[in-house]
Amino acid sequence: MPIIEVNSVTKEFKRRKKRPGLWGSLSGLVSPTYEVITAVDAVSFTIERGEMIGYIGPNGAGKSTTIKMLSGILVPTSGKISVLSLDPSRQRPEHTRHIGVVFGQRTSLWWDVPVADSLRLLRDVYKVPEARYRQNLERFTDLLGLGEFIHVPVRQLSLGQRVRADIAAALMHDPSILFLDEPTIGVDVISKERLRNFIREINAEQGITVLLTTHDMNEIEKLCTRVAFIDHGRILYDGSLEAISSRYSSEKVLAVEFEEEIPDFTLAGATLRRSEGRKKWFAFNRSETPASTLIAEISNHYPVADLTVTDVEIEAVIRAMYGDQARRVRES
Ligand SMILES: Nc1ncnc2c1ncn2[C@@H]1O[C@H](COP(=O)(O)OP(=O)(O)OP(=O)(O)O)[C@@H](O)[C@H]1O
Ligand SMILES: [Mg+2]
Repeated sequence: MPIIEVNSVTKEFKRRKKRPGLWGSLSGLVSPTYEVITAVDAVSFTIERGEMIGYIGPNGAGKSTTIKMLSGILVPTSGKISVLSLDPSRQRPEHTRHIGVVFGQRTSLWWDVPVADSLRLLRDVYKVPEARYRQNLERFTDLLGLGEFIHVPVRQLSLGQRVRADIAAALMHDPSILFLDEPTIGVDVISKERLRNFIREINAEQGITVLLTTHDMNEIEKLCTRVAFIDHGRILYDGSLEAISSRYSSEKVLAVEFEEEIPDFTLAGATLRRSEGRKKWFAFNRSETPASTLIAEISNHYPVADLTVTDVEIEAVIRAMYGDQARRVRES
């Protein structure tokens, strides 16, 4: 049975409509008009225990709103959410015991309190047995490198340190599900790598179910086998990362560096995408034209210094998907 079930969930926000100009602002005060924003639009998915899912989409797509509903912070306008057979918003105190939530953009720790004290407070709130608390503290200190700042108040921490402290706090009560909303935003490369390893480890070794939002595709590729794309509140794709990659990535890029500057030319089976100094980039579909044909054709006619064939990146794959969706919307 799935651990999380989201069934046709919609979240609407009512937002005060601003009218242009001074007169508009004034009349808005007297008789305000509202517009309804559908942040999440009839979204359905299920998550099995132990899965690690990347929940991705452009700004304003509805990712954070979904996570807030899953963690009981927001109540859906319609539809049903069940997490471990609980309704997150209606059964919030019980629900909270089973989940950990991290919002990379803001901390859930006490601002003026040293990290160690915050963690101890959480131990009390969740009534974590002392032995288990010590065990967790030791493990998190080790894996997340909390030692260097554990006695520093949260307000004095760097962003990367703060996020690490937040993740430790979210896991102190041994939740079975972890929601991570942009956990590595603004975090440097080394700390990112460390956080990723940590997330991978808690998922693999403790079987914690993880739902992760991020704009860092590298992160998704490293952590998730399943991805769900949301755009304008709707899920466009939910499935394996591999399947979309292969669906869209039969396109490859051939980068050629010539020994001298060459005027642009056409090449059968490929499209010239970019030309810069002695370099040119051609896009081609490998299932229609083998790279070797193009390479032979080019080197027969021009002095080639260097050649590389690369895959289209996952970012481009996603952009293509969003592009497709945008076209569908415009056509309908
Ligand atoms: N409290 C609110 N009141 C009104 N509108 C809101 C509220 N929270 C979110 N929205 C709107 O709902 C939509 C979805 O927002 P959400 O924060 O879920 O996006 P997101 O996918 O997390 O984006 P990002 O990648 O920028 O974090 C946006 O249009 C946003 O402006
Ligand atoms: Mg967000």
